[in-house]
Amino acid sequence: MRFVKARDYRDMSRKAANILSAHIIVKPDCVIGLATGSSPIGAYECLVDWYRKGDLDFSGVTSVNLDEYRGLPHDNDQSYYYFMNKHLFSKVNIDPARTFVPDGMIADADEACRQYDAIVRATGGVDIQLLGLGRNGHIGFNEPDAVFAKGTHCVNLTESTIEANARFFASKSDVPTQAYTMGIQTIMKAKKILLVVNGEDKADAVEKSFFGDVTPLVPASILQLHQDVTIVGDEAAFSKIADRI
Ligand code: F6R
Repeated sequence: MRFVKARDYRDMSRKAANILSAHIIVKPDCVIGLATGSSPIGAYECLVDWYRKGDLDFSGVTSVNLDEYRGLPHDNDQSYYYFMNKHLFSKVNIDPARTFVPDGMIADADEACRQYDAIVRATGGVDIQLLGLGRNGHIGFNEPDAVFAKGTHCVNLTESTIEANARFFASKSDVPTQAYTMGIQTIMKAKKILLVVNGEDKADAVEKSFFGDVTPLVPASILQLHQDVTIVGDEAAFSKIADRI
């Protein structure tokens, strides 16, 4: 695992965007795995900026997102599809037909998950997967559990995740309680992983995930077994591991 120290959120975002853009430049038809949440927004802003300046071309890029709330349509402003469209897809020249987010409106969970696994497989594999980190160590919506889930699956969100995400909704009771998420095996199959993490409230999760036991109780800990992981974090997120990196 490579730890890249950033001063603050802005610095973290620029560094992560630099890594992503290098991939797009070197392999214009790359497949990038994308995440939502507050952590990657700054990186998306940089990518949009560099696209506008003519430094980046997304016309050959395919994207697959990690997760989506079950039951939220694309035009719901809290859906992850809406988020991706707002922060990236509508602002760059990526082909909308090559942007994939799990379909939260497929009511049959098994069918929704089967379809998404087939989509990810059909891309030929993710070249670089961008991840955020949950305060409980989740990646995607793979919550702490007794086992690592393999493929795309439907999850019941934990109380801590619902609480963390309530800030984006009118009230906590509006936060959906289920989501479709790529599984751990799918994430681990990405050739490269790029995780961005910032803020004091993630410092515990950073320590447990990258220096603790590999356990499904801390889903991100599995990344210790991946051969190409880069973690870009700010000083606050790295505060508990500063002397070890
Ligand atoms: C979102 C996702 C989640 C978030 C995590 C951190 O697609 O997969 O795992 O990355 O919950 O969220 P933020 O960045 O909002 O702290």
